[in-house]
Amino acid sequence: MICARCGRENDADARFCSGCGARLQSGPSREERKVVTILFADIVGSTARAEQLDPEDVRAALSRYYGIVRAELERHGGTVEKFIGDAVMAVYGAPTAHEDDPERAVRAGFAIRDALAESDVDVRIAVHTGEALVSLDARPEDGESMVAGDVVNTAARLQSAAPVNGVIVGEATYRATQQVIEFRALESVAGKGKAQPIVAWEAVAPRARFGMDVDQSEQTRLVGRNEELDVLRAALVRARREHATQLVTLVGVPGIGKTRLVTELMSLVDDDPDLIWWRQCRCLPYGEGTSFWALSEMIKAQAGVLETDTAERAEAKLRTAVSALIREPGELEWVLGHVRPLLGLPGHTGERPERFAAWRRLIEALALQRPLVLVFEDLHWADDGMLDFVDYLAEWAGPVPLLLICSARPELLERRPGWGGGKRNATTVSLAPLSDDDVGRLIARLLEQAVLPVDTQRELLRRAGGNPLYAEQYVRMLQEGRDPRDALPENVQGIIAARLDTLPPEEKALLQDAAVVGKVFWLGIVGAIGGSERWTTEERLHSLERREFVRRERRASIGAEAEYAFRHVLVRDVAYNQIPRSVRARKHRAAADWIDSLGSERAEDRSELLAHHYGAALELTRSAGLPDGDLPALTKKALFEAGERSWALGAAETACERFKAALELTDQSDPAWPRLLRAYGSALSRTQETGEEELATASAALLAAGDLEGMAQAERDLGDLLWGQGRVA
Ligand SMILES: Nc1ncnc2c1ncn2[C@@H]1O[C@H](COP(=O)(O)OP(=O)(O)O)[C@@H](O)[C@H]1O
Ligand SMILES: [Mg+2]
Repeated sequence: MICARCGRENDADARFCSGCGARLQSGPSREERKVVTILFADIVGSTARAEQLDPEDVRAALSRYYGIVRAELERHGGTVEKFIGDAVMAVYGAPTAHEDDPERAVRAGFAIRDALAESDVDVRIAVHTGEALVSLDARPEDGESMVAGDVVNTAARLQSAAPVNGVIVGEATYRATQQVIEFRALESVAGKGKAQPIVAWEAVAPRARFGMDVDQSEQTRLVGRNEELDVLRAALVRARREHATQLVTLVGVPGIGKTRLVTELMSLVDDDPDLIWWRQCRCLPYGEGTSFWALSEMIKAQAGVLETDTAERAEAKLRTAVSALIREPGELEWVLGHVRPLLGLPGHTGERPERFAAWRRLIEALALQRPLVLVFEDLHWADDGMLDFVDYLAEWAGPVPLLLICSARPELLERRPGWGGGKRNATTVSLAPLSDDDVGRLIARLLEQAVLPVDTQRELLRRAGGNPLYAEQYVRMLQEGRDPRDALPENVQGIIAARLDTLPPEEKALLQDAAVVGKVFWLGIVGAIGGSERWTTEERLHSLERREFVRRERRASIGAEAEYAFRHVLVRDVAYNQIPRSVRARKHRAAADWIDSLGSERAEDRSELLAHHYGAALELTRSAGLPDGDLPALTKKALFEAGERSWALGAAETACERFKAALELTDQSDPAWPRLLRAYGSALSRTQETGEEELATASAALLAAGDLEGMAQAERDLGDLLWGQGRVA
């Protein structure tokens, strides 16, 4: 059995690794590398008081505070990992990542501070974000630790420097949340055992938010999306002219521009001389809103009900609003009775069909007054009841000018494959990535600069992959003077990691295996790496395709193997980075063995692939301090072949690098050494006009080995080199 932590082979019945002592587990690895946010909260100022108190009283008092702290941590989605002295440590982002873990942690910090403000204890809080190794099976409630990594030590370090009743954060947390939280710069914190001081900020307060969304006021001009906007515009025209309900669903991955399209339509509606009602609401991630939350937000907005209103005020406002729409007293009471529960007020508890009918009646009444646009954002997070209602509304709403716009991620279609289908008045618009030209224009506008260095531009386009949100985040990175090649913007990493965590574990594992292969991969190879049956693999890939993580390619570059590609290269990168390094080595090896087993069937760039995977396996194995077995020999052979292929194709520079890498793995006693040295010398002579020594040594060695043809080649290239340098006439 192989240890998931260190990669050592153990006896099949071993329960603990003989190398590192970790508990061994059969089945897939249950460890993952993740970007997590750590929060430390230390209750201070209790020492002086504690000296005068009975120890049991101290404990009783403290446990009450810890109860408050724990409740706030968990309310924001954190997991309490452990208590260290007076400090509590919590983790955000593990075992399951959310898009906004750093923000949640900072907000939890504020909540704890506020909850203890009246008490006689002080608290010091630190939040820090970074990569950690996460044990997915750990049970923190039993004292098992879930995360390990420098991020924990740094967070602890920061905590000791936190201002009293303040929240201190590190650089990565600051960057991930600066759009939503206000910060003040602090002096850097000297880290124990750290070369560099830790850059620190004090979180002051959350910034006000426009609705639930990031402020859309500072937008660059829209690029592309003309056809999509036309669909929305046409649906509005039809709804108004024909008095027929229209349903348009915008489907696409996060950041692709769904909300933006809705905003564009809204500004068209604003410019319209006629008055049009516009009601917009957004569904929240599962488990965080109540049923029909989005709908109740809409009704509250229509009636002008505020969160702070008392029940009586809310009731009065609701009654005024609804009676302005529905005159007939019996009907008014019936509608009110069914709408009240949406606002948390007592009302009818009828069957669902009746409730739906009453809500529909209200919406129809609204649309009869003026054309009505209802926007349901992020519908993939809606509860089933909410989905049923939107569907029902599209089907049943009477002849009124009503336009329903929904935005959703592809997961919605996974949940409701028939969404919108079979209705004459429904359209689903799938938002494809923007073209590179459009993204280029977007980048230029964001940077207020027409031309970037070609390399930078190409790199940005590749990473953005047609996603405007990613493009924006990379531009920001560039503006902050960071190199886009170094890291993923925090928000982008968060969005992708959270999406990966919505997958069933076996599909996520498959994506990780595929990520080892690269942006492009084949059905057979992921099956071989993960050890699953062909049809199971196929089924999982199909599901991943529907969720728009991968795409099946029409042509296949390896024989008859079905070929797939990640839709976005960053998804590949995040999935790959989640695999513990020790496990990566094994997976690269399995990938290489599969390619090797194909024989010469795949002539194209087989040796390149082999060189890459054997090479990666070798490097990872060595850096883990494990025996490398036959990996050096296999890597060397593949590198040599890859070099020869590059050479034959005229890519002399690449060939030169490959030969050099192969030579570094080859002993002088190896029979292949003289030929390899000759090849390297020739490549050097061609690319850098050097290699005299290599060619001369190779020539002698080839002669000694009896390879006269090889020797002749070496001599010829040596002659050419010297001729070129003008040293022989
Ligand atoms: N076609 C576009 N032109 C310019 N900016 C865009 C475009 N589409 C999206 N954006 C910008 O990209 C970011 C993400 O878009 P958003 O609509 O929020 O994505 P989604 O709702 O699909 O997650 C926003 O800042 C938005 O203004
Ligand atoms: Mg959106």
